[in-house]
Parts: sequence; structure tokens; C-alpha cells
Amino acid sequence: MGMVKVVLNGKEVEALEEETILNLVRRHGIEIPTLCYYEGFANGSCRICVVEVNGRLMPSCITKVSEGMKIETESARVTEARKTLLRLLLKNHTHRSKEEQMRCRVCEYAVKYGLEPAPVMPDVKVDDTHPAIIFNPSACVMCRKCVIACGIDQNNDVIAVIGRGSGTRVGFDLDTSMGMSSCVSCGACVDACPTGALMEKGWVPADKVVETTCPYCGTGCQVEYGVKDGRVIWARGAYGPANEGKLCVKGKFGYHYVNSPERLTKPLIRRPNVPKGPLNGRPIHEVFREATWDEALDLIASKIREILNKYGPAAIGGIMSDRSTNESIYAFQKFMRCAIGTDSIDQSATLCHEPSAWSLAAQLGFGAATNPIRDVLNSRTIIVVGSNMNETHPVIAAYVKRAAKQGAHLIIVNPIHTELARYAEYELLISLVRMSYYSPQWPGT
Ligand code: SF4
Ligand code: SF4
Ligand code: FES
Repeated sequence: MGMVKVVLNGKEVEALEEETILNLVRRHGIEIPTLCYYEGFANGSCRICVVEVNGRLMPSCITKVSEGMKIETESARVTEARKTLLRLLLKNHTHRSKEEQMRCRVCEYAVKYGLEPAPVMPDVKVDDTHPAIIFNPSACVMCRKCVIACGIDQNNDVIAVIGRGSGTRVGFDLDTSMGMSSCVSCGACVDACPTGALMEKGWVPADKVVETTCPYCGTGCQVEYGVKDGRVIWARGAYGPANEGKLCVKGKFGYHYVNSPERLTKPLIRRPNVPKGPLNGRPIHEVFREATWDEALDLIASKIREILNKYGPAAIGGIMSDRSTNESIYAFQKFMRCAIGTDSIDQSATLCHEPSAWSLAAQLGFGAATNPIRDVLNSRTIIVVGSNMNETHPVIAAYVKRAAKQGAHLIIVNPIHTELARYAEYELLISLVRMSYYSPQWPGT
């Protein structure tokens, strides 16, 4: 990509050919307000990102730079244009709660440009039929980000713009309530919405935000957890190469286990004379007692030493959870090989991943994927074998669905019908297995 020279706020700078003005100014640390801008997808419907280009007002998020451009990001005309837009948006804009107002960039920009933020009116009519999301149409500014998030990025196609003229609004499926719609609760609309019109139920601001990797499946989605009083209170998608900001229902709304009182947070040691076996309804503390880490580790070490002395290292094997990080699995195998002296080491992913690892190694020379997930978008043909990725790895399914919509041939070979088959050119159901696993919830299979 070549370079061009432009004048940005009176200073000559170099810009990448083909980049947008918004991208350029952000690279130079200049803040421009945005509402409808959705990373990677042209929208250009709100015009709040307006800048002056050679004396004309242009939306910076969809205008590309060109040689010799003179760009002003905060001129008097720009400020007046943004204020006019905000006044218009604020005409039909109310919030149902203070928290919702806190999420609203229209109100944030209103304050920045010396205007009054939208009022809080708790009695406004909302759609609260969804178990985890609340929709307040009176806070919606029709920026359409939720439509892009749902339809183009996640490819769930639930949210659409419906109606005409002044009756134009955001709707779900064929204009049903959100709770009755085919929403899969990925929460992308909530993360995208710049006004809080679509928001998590019970959302409150966090004390701090922690970025990490979603612990559920192997996709590796990046996630930000809001933490308050030491507890995770919400999650939102963060940008990473695997997910580009997207999450699925597990990553977005499945974090409550972190705070669950049922989690084991201390080691437990079996009480004397309690036989091994299922709990069979007995309270766990009748079978085990809490111990300190030192006590538990000493007990494990003494048992290992006892077996080592009696039977030798070959009598000891170790299995790790596939929920563990690469680093802890590495440390564990090192311990088993060097400290114990055994090669009997495994990890539970062997059960589900071994056939694919063998197959990948045979085909590609390496037992794992050799390209990033988003490369699915460059494939002409995609064959999905034995996977219900819509449920197991929904963020990968989002890319597969998008590729199919863009014209890739999607072929599914599976013992059961899956929702992904809606996007497939061919669905090959393995009939014998299908007879035993046939699920009547999918008609027409
Ligand atoms: S609900 Fe939010 S994201 Fe969707 S159009 Fe309205 S303001 Fe934009
Ligand atoms: S696809 Fe869902 S479960 Fe898997 S890492 Fe991403 S958010 Fe987590
Ligand atoms: S953010 Fe640029 S037009 Fe909306």
C-alpha cells in the first residue's frame, strides 16, 4: 500500500493510501465522535464523525484519504454540524435509567458540546422479554450497528430495520418481541449499541475491566470482564485475531460460574473410612473435609512417594484437563517426566481432538490449524464433518456462515441435522446414525 501526504489540522502528515480519515486521525491520537461506525463494515449513517475536507463537510469513517487533502477535525463548522446533529438526535431520545444514560455516547457528546443530555424517564415502554437483554426503543438513534453486528458480523440475521418513514425502527425477526425471536443471545448487538438502547439486564458500571481469553472453547475469543467488589459483573467482546470483537452466548453471558458459591476454592481431603464412589445425594462435606494447600500437597506427595517406592515410576500416570493453559500443561508434563520419571501422561483433549490432529498432520504436516480462523472467508469450498459448531464453537460458525453467504460452497457431513445446514449447499446426513440420533426439533431432515 502506497503513502499519500495530507494536511491534518494544519500539519503535513503521511497517510496510508486507501485508509479512511477516521483511521488516520485515530492513528494520530485525535478523538472524533462516532456512533454508527462498526470496525470493518462501512455504515456511514449517523454523520457525527463529520470533518472538514478542503472546505466541505464529510463523514470521516467512510471517506478515504487522498493526496493533498486538507482535513480539519474541530473547526467551527465541524463543531456546529455536530451540535446540530446532536440536537436532532436528542429530540426523540430518552433513557429509562441512569445506568442506560451512562452507556450513551449521544449524551456523552451532548455534554462535551455544551448541550443537555437526554432525560431519564423510567416509565418508557421497553421490551424486556429476553432473559438477558433489555431493549429500550426510545434510546435508539437508528444507527444500525446492531443490524450489522447481528446480520453481517455474527450472521444470525435476527435484527433488522423495519417500517417506513417516521415509523422506521429496529425489529426482531418478523417484528416479534426479542424474547420470542430467534435471537441466540450472542450479545453482539449489546456490545455494539452506542446508546444503551440494547443493554444487558441489570448492568452497572464496573470498578475495573480485565481483559482475558474466554475459557469455554478452543476458539480463543478475547473478552473483557467488568469487575466490581472482586466479582465479575459483565462481559463484552474484545478485539482479538480469533474473534474480532465477537463472543457467543457462553462468552457473553456464561461468566456467573466465576462467582458461584458451589465452586471449589479450597482443597478437599476424603474423611477417614468414607468409601470411594458417587456421592449419591450425600452433602459433599460429609465425604470430604476442607484442607490447606500445604496439607493437600503434602498428602499427594506422600502417596506418590509410597507408590514410587513400592511399584516404581511406571505405576504412575497423569491426566490433565483440556481447560488448562499450554503453560500449565507443559509444567505438568515436565514434572511427570523429570520428577516422577514416567511417560504416562495424557490430556483429556486426546479423546475428542486426536482424530482431527492425526488427519491434519497427515494432510498439512502439522496437527493443528495452519491459518487464522478468518481465512475461512477466503475459502471457495468449506466441508464441515461431524461438527455442530453453531453450538460448540459459535464464533467460528459466524465466519463459516458469512463465507457461505458470500458464495462459498458449504458441505456438511453429519449424523444429525444442525442449524448451520441452513447455509449449506449440501447436507449429507449419515443415515444409520441419523436414525438413532434424529432430533424432531428440526423439521424436514
Ligand atoms: S438499538 Fe442501538 S445499535 Fe441498534 S440502531 Fe438503535 S442505537 Fe443503534
Ligand atoms: S466461541 Fe464462545 S465459548 Fe468459544 S471462546 Fe468464543 S466466546 Fe468463548
Ligand atoms: S460514525 Fe461516521 S457516519 Fe456514523
